[in-house]
Amino acid sequence: MIATSTVFLALAALVVATPARRAASCTFPDPPSTSSLSEPMSVTGDFDGGNVRFDRGEACTGQSEGGDSNAVFLLEDGASLSNVVIGADQAEGVHCLGSCTLTNVWFEAVCEDAITIKQDSGTSTISGGGAKGAEDKVVQHNGGGTVVIDSFCVQDFGKLYRSCGNCDEYGQTALTVLSSMYERHVEISNIIASSGSSLAGINSNYGDTAIIDVDSSTIDDVDSICDTYEGNDNGDEPEKLTSNESNDYCQF
Ligand SMILES: *[C@@H]1O[C@H](CO)[C@@H](O)[C@H](O)[C@H]1NC(C)=O
Repeated sequence: MIATSTVFLALAALVVATPARRAASCTFPDPPSTSSLSEPMSVTGDFDGGNVRFDRGEACTGQSEGGDSNAVFLLEDGASLSNVVIGADQAEGVHCLGSCTLTNVWFEAVCEDAITIKQDSGTSTISGGGAKGAEDKVVQHNGGGTVVIDSFCVQDFGKLYRSCGNCDEYGQTALTVLSSMYERHVEISNIIASSGSSLAGINSNYGDTAIIDVDSSTIDDVDSICDTYEGNDNGDEPEKLTSNESNDYCQF
């Protein structure tokens, strides 16, 4: 009797401890209608886009660093964005000014980056959805805290996640004010990733960590699971320290 209930309790604890998971999908929605915004849509609370395509009506101009005013959606602290397709004609995708939740947000053609996380602390979650064609980064983490990426599809990309390697008060261009350097964390699970250079790039000298669950993921033609860099706060190009090596910082 004792043995049976102990086993039962252990199983119950396991069930409670395991978050709900669903398989990632790479079937991008193809909305019949597009809403071209003349300025970023600011979201407080929840916004469900009903799978409409949103853009800014202007073609991507490459890798020049934009700001909040170039975003399609600006999520205030605690905001949630769901069921949205971001089209090609835009520059900066989604900017989270605090902790945010993105559910089923699809990027048809990433421009400078898809999602910029600026929270000081806390956890932002990206689940469901996907991103295609990011020449460089999909998720750019400029603030602090943790980013959770689960059930996400990423195809033809540079880096799925990068902890900013050289954010400082004035930013790389001296025109944009970025954030300062932080210790940052990312957890990646249950993804489908194909044709990319790396899933995560982190600054080990700032104590960043990346925990990547490769067993729950499908990873094809990706050069590196995780890279560490020597980050800095003076705008220099960060030096890469390790590549595709599991260690205290890159855990996979
Ligand atoms: C990167 O590491 C993973 C996991 O150890 C391994 O399966 C993969 O072959 C490595 N990739 C390259 C390009 O060496």
